[in-house]
Parts: sequence; C-alpha cells; structure tokens
Amino acid sequence: MEVLENVSLKPFSTFGIEAKARYWATFSNEAELKTLLTTYKHVPFMVLGEGSNVLFTQDFEGLVLVNQVKGISVGKEGVGKVRVGAGENWHQFVSWTLENGLYGLENLSLIYGSVGASPMQNIGAYGVEVKQFITNVLAYHTETHEIHSFTNRDCAFGYRSSIFKTTHKGKYIILWVDFQLQTVPDLQLAYGDIQKTLAEMQITLPTPREVSQAVIKIRQSKLPNPAEIGNAGSFFKNPEIPLAQFEALKKQYPTLPAYPASEAECVKIPAGWLIEQAGWKGYRRGEAGVHERQALVLVNYGNATGAEILDLAQKIQNDLFEKFGIQIIPEVNVV
Ligand code: FAD
Ligand code: EPU
Repeated sequence: MEVLENVSLKPFSTFGIEAKARYWATFSNEAELKTLLTTYKHVPFMVLGEGSNVLFTQDFEGLVLVNQVKGISVGKEGVGKVRVGAGENWHQFVSWTLENGLYGLENLSLIYGSVGASPMQNIGAYGVEVKQFITNVLAYHTETHEIHSFTNRDCAFGYRSSIFKTTHKGKYIILWVDFQLQTVPDLQLAYGDIQKTLAEMQITLPTPREVSQAVIKIRQSKLPNPAEIGNAGSFFKNPEIPLAQFEALKKQYPTLPAYPASEAECVKIPAGWLIEQAGWKGYRRGEAGVHERQALVLVNYGNATGAEILDLAQKIQNDLFEKFGIQIIPEVNVV
C-alpha cells in the first residue's frame, strides 16, 4: 500500500496519454482504502480500474487509487449467484463463468476493464447489458467510510449510465459486484453479425463458448487493440433522438440507420454512421485521429495529448450538430 509520488499515468490508461498523478496507490481491501482516504483527505482522489474508459487531459493533483480488490466467490444460497471483487479483470471473469457452467455474459466477452467499472456505465455489447445480471453493487462511501449495498433498482441503470456515473459520481467506490447468472444458456444471437459470424465458423447449434468466440472475432475485426493503438472504445454514446426528428432526417439521408431506444418515442442513431457521413472516418491530425474501421473510436497514434483528443472530439461534436442538428455526448470519462 505504498504511496508513490508524481507517477506517470500513461501505462494506466488504454489511451496511453501522458499525465501525472501527484499521489498514486493501489488498494486491495476496505481497510487499505480507509487508511488511504483518511491519510490523504486534504487532496482530491479518483479511482481507476484498468483505465479503458478515461481520457486524461491534465495532471491529477490528488490521489489516484487503483482498485485491486480480488476474488470470486460462489453464493451458497442460490444457484448461479456469484460475488466478484471489483479489481478482477472483466474478460477473465467472463471466461471463468463459461468454464464453470454459468451463462449470460458471453456477448460481453472481450470488453476491456475491471468488474468494478462494469456497473458504472452499465457496459453493453451485441444486444446484452450487464444490468441484466447484476443483483447488487457493494460500494464504499468515501465520507462515511461505510459499505452500502445497492440493489439493481437502486443503481438506476440506463444506456451507458447508472447512479455511479450521474448523481453518485465520485461519492462511492465499488468494491464487489453480485451477479445472478444462468445455469441453462439463453443465447442472444439476434444482434449484428453474430449469426453471420457463427455461420462462417460453420457452427449451427452454438454453445455459449462458441458465441463468446464469435463475439471476440467480430470485436477483433472492428475495434483497435489498445496494445497497438491508444483508444478507449467508443468515444461518444449513440444519440437517442425523437422519432419526428428521425423521420425528417431520413428524407434527407435515406440510408440513416436506427435502432430501438431506451426513451419512449425515440430511436437510437449510430454516431459512427453520422461521423463517417460527415467525412471524419480515418481523419488524422498530428497524433490524434478517428479510427479507420470504426468512426466512433478516437485514437492516439502515439504521442497525442489529452487536449488534442478532446479538441478533435469537440470539432466532431460541433460539425455533427451543424450538419444533422444532433448533439453527441462523450461516453469516455474526461479527467
Ligand atoms: P476505468 O477506465 O478505470 O474507469 C472508468 C470510470 O469508472 C472512471 O470514471 C473511474 O473513476 C470509474 N471507476 C472505475 N472503477 C471504479 C470503481 N471500482 N468504483 C467507482 N468508480 C469506478 N464499453 C462497453 O460498454 N461496451 C463495449 O463494447 C466496450 N468496448 C470497448 C472496446 C475497447 C477497445 C476499449 C478500450 C474500451 C471499450 N469499452 C466498452 C469501454 C470500457 O471497456 C468499459 O467502460 C469498462 O467498464 C471500463 O473499465 P475500467 O476498469 O478500465 O474503468
Ligand atoms: N457505423 C458506420 N460507420 C462506422 C461505424 C459504425 O456507419 O464507422 C454504423 C453502421 O451502420 C453499423 C452501426 O453504425 O451497422 C453500428 O456499428 P457497431 O455495430 O460497430 O456498433 P456501434 O453502435 O458503433 C456500439 C457500442 C459498442 C459496442 C457495439 C456492439 C456505444 C456507444 N457503442 O457501437 O460499445 O461494442 O455497439 O454492441 O453504444 C463502447 O461502449 O466503448 C463500445 C465499443
């Protein structure tokens, strides 16, 4: 639990952006967290999992706490109940579930980051969201130092959203997440290219593990690997717009795609489509750019600064607003 000073955060975020933490420490249990927060109560703090959804735009003049709470325990009281330490790696946990005959998370394979960050923005992919499997989130209140168990309902999960990203942001540190998984698979194959990919793999009656493999294949073909090129996945959320606005736009852009939205009388538009139409796909200025295979992903070609990435993001936002009248909002947490 050693506290280091002036630590480079470059290795601790998948964007690979240079920024310094005034103080930096890891914690692996509640007691360590309490000691760190009380000792450093005079400075701001922030918690990091694996840094796959943050953009540092400046040095952090406080304490960066890296969550390393580990452990997976299987509940006694019910089949398929599992409690997982927030510092476990998400994809390794998904692989563990499949090895242990527990299903539901296969479509969420290969999402980067930690288990503890998964409720934060209610991670989702290929027609599944983590909220479908979370029963409780156990989180540490940074002022009272007590642990509160939030039920699924308390979390107010939405599309890339929860109370931990909105009303309760910065107030709680998630330590464990409770899941209720399936013991009998209920495969979700309707979304995107899953069925096409399974057919290419010559699989007709897929197992959950094969669905996981198909999802991994699709993701590897589209999304840049942060080990090769800095990024944080989708930089923006897909906007939800009123049906009337969609119909008006559709007259001008007949190929504009739309998906069901969480809001009533609205549709979800793929921001990647808007960014591509506006001519930004593959754009590069200096070390910052828009990925050439997925326009929703902003990339750091090596030495971009956070300010350069943010500036590019703002230019794209302004351009889309001018061209389509749609305001897109970042998904990534800008620090
Ligand atoms: P971090 O980046 O470390 O933190 C993210 C935010 O959560 C920060 O604000 C941080 O302060 C807060 N936080 C982290 N841990 C805790 C905690 N224990 N308690 C309280 N707050 C905490 N996301 C999707 O939903 N779907 C995808 O398909 C997807 N694909 C991706 C593909 C790529 C290539 C990459 C790089 C990212 C992708 N993401 C996707 C985004 C990312 O994987 C998720 O947001 C993930 O949950 C972030 O986990 P992390 O541990 O890296 O969080
Ligand atoms: N599209 C384009 N050009 C592009 C990219 C996308 O036209 O360059 C259009 C196409 O019409 C395509 C549609 O957008 O059919 C959807 O694209 P894709 O399936 O790649 O998904 P997405 O909407 O861009 C969302 C999530 C991803 C998630 C995938 C799969 C958000 C913000 N992003 O991306 O999550 O993996 O669906 O479910 O909801 C993340 O959150 O970081 C992330 C990667």
